[in-house]
Amino acid sequence: MTDIAPAPLRIALGSSLPEPDESIARMITSGRSSLAFFLGDEACRYRLLAASINWDRILIAYRDCTPLGYAAFKHHWRGPFSPGAGPFLREFGRLRGAARYLLFALTEGREWYYGFYLYGLHVIKHARHQGIASALLSATFDQAGRAGYDRVELEVQVKNQRARRLYEHLGFIRVRTTPLNWLGRFLPFPSVINMRRTLKSLQ
Ligand SMILES: CC(C)(COP(=O)(O)OP(=O)(O)OC[C@H]1O[C@@H](n2cnc3c(N)ncnc32)[C@H](O)[C@@H]1OP(=O)(O)O)[C@@H](O)C(=O)NCCC(=O)NCCS
Repeated sequence: MTDIAPAPLRIALGSSLPEPDESIARMITSGRSSLAFFLGDEACRYRLLAASINWDRILIAYRDCTPLGYAAFKHHWRGPFSPGAGPFLREFGRLRGAARYLLFALTEGREWYYGFYLYGLHVIKHARHQGIASALLSATFDQAGRAGYDRVELEVQVKNQRARRLYEHLGFIRVRTTPLNWLGRFLPFPSVINMRRTLKSLQ
């Protein structure tokens, strides 16, 4: 029996794809699970966010034509999602929808003091431990360099040991731990570690 080599991994900016399909949009909107208490489950997050994806803020990893993971990032006041209030009002009604939209805007706004911010990173379960997240991060560093930044910053949940180990291996250092930000005094936001990776030192 002959071994067939796996197809090469390709990383593409979402905006360079002819037509990003629904499965990719579903993968991307499945992130932000820590905000499920007000953004709802995966299906609900898809309804709220899918129409407002900024594809130039998303890198997608593929083998053949199968999407395997993505990295999403924010810079210059633009992240992977720019939803209006409409989908929130339709989903939850006027009062609850407006409150949830405001909360979403607050959580998004809280991240703006970062320059180039890694907003999300995800690899589908059966494709993990093949270097896909590492390749996505390397492509993210290229994006940051091209956009004029000399560092990439991120937040990772304290309990997410796997992601923390990966970031450390790729040169990120811990800047601080945020046990609870002011929103977290009232709502169940998880404790996060802020990490930073300087680009110049490793290139
Ligand atoms: C965290 C996550 C993105 C990592 O994705 P991944 O594609 O498995 O990551 P990589 O394969 O690049 O690296 C994972 C490990 O596999 C190792 N590895 C890389 N290539 C490998 C290969 N060909 N063979 C075996 N191991 C390999 C890496 O060295 C790394 O080891 P480490 O855990 O000791 O650092 C993935 O587990 C995930 O999507 N988790 C859920 C979402 C999440 O937590 N995202 C982070 C939010 S901050």
